[in-house]
Amino acid sequence: MIVASTSRVPSRSRWVAEYYQRSLKEFRVDADLMALDQVPTSILDTTLYRKPRIPNESWDAIQQRVHAAQKFIFIIPEYNGSFPGILKVWIDALEYPGSLRGKKACMLGLSDGTQGSALAMSHFADVLNYAGVHTLAFRPRFIQIGQYVTDGGLGNPDYMKQIQIQIDQFLAF
Ligand SMILES: Cc1cc2nc3c(=O)[nH]c(=O)nc-3n(C[C@H](O)[C@H](O)[C@H](O)COP(=O)(O)O)c2cc1C
Repeated sequence: MIVASTSRVPSRSRWVAEYYQRSLKEFRVDADLMALDQVPTSILDTTLYRKPRIPNESWDAIQQRVHAAQKFIFIIPEYNGSFPGILKVWIDALEYPGSLRGKKACMLGLSDGTQGSALAMSHFADVLNYAGVHTLAFRPRFIQIGQYVTDGGLGNPDYMKQIQIQIDQFLAF
């Protein structure tokens, strides 16, 4: 599963996620793409930090997709020096520990500035490791992303190459 880790619309993370999904097809891999604008705000009344939980059709469908996935590719934009709050909400709302424990993940960061979500990915790796997820060491950082992401394209050959390398590594991971 590819997770475009923001609810912002439109979102460059979403475009990079779609590019990544197309790249995976070249490796004969069909990946589910979850953009976090799909997270329903109704989870505040039914699911998030609730016990017992109230059934919520939209969220329960997301939960089932997560149960079905074994490997996760997180596309993480840098927001205020870290990862987006909606990504933490998504993690907090998932059933614990059965949703993620023992599964595998890799990360790719992007930002307008020059960090490329380096700290964001470091912060998120701690969250994933707490949840029992094994993470790939190679984390591409796409800096000054606004210069390169255009509708449907990723205008930077080095960034395209880094995605290929990460796919190679993650398939073997
Ligand atoms: C709430 C918010 C906070 C941001 N904070 C940072 C930041 O700390 N460092 C940075 O380089 N860019 C920051 N940006 C710019 C984003 O990293 C950049 O616009 C990126 O494209 C966002 O990904 P998105 O289009 O998927 O939302 C921020 C953008 C938003 C919306």
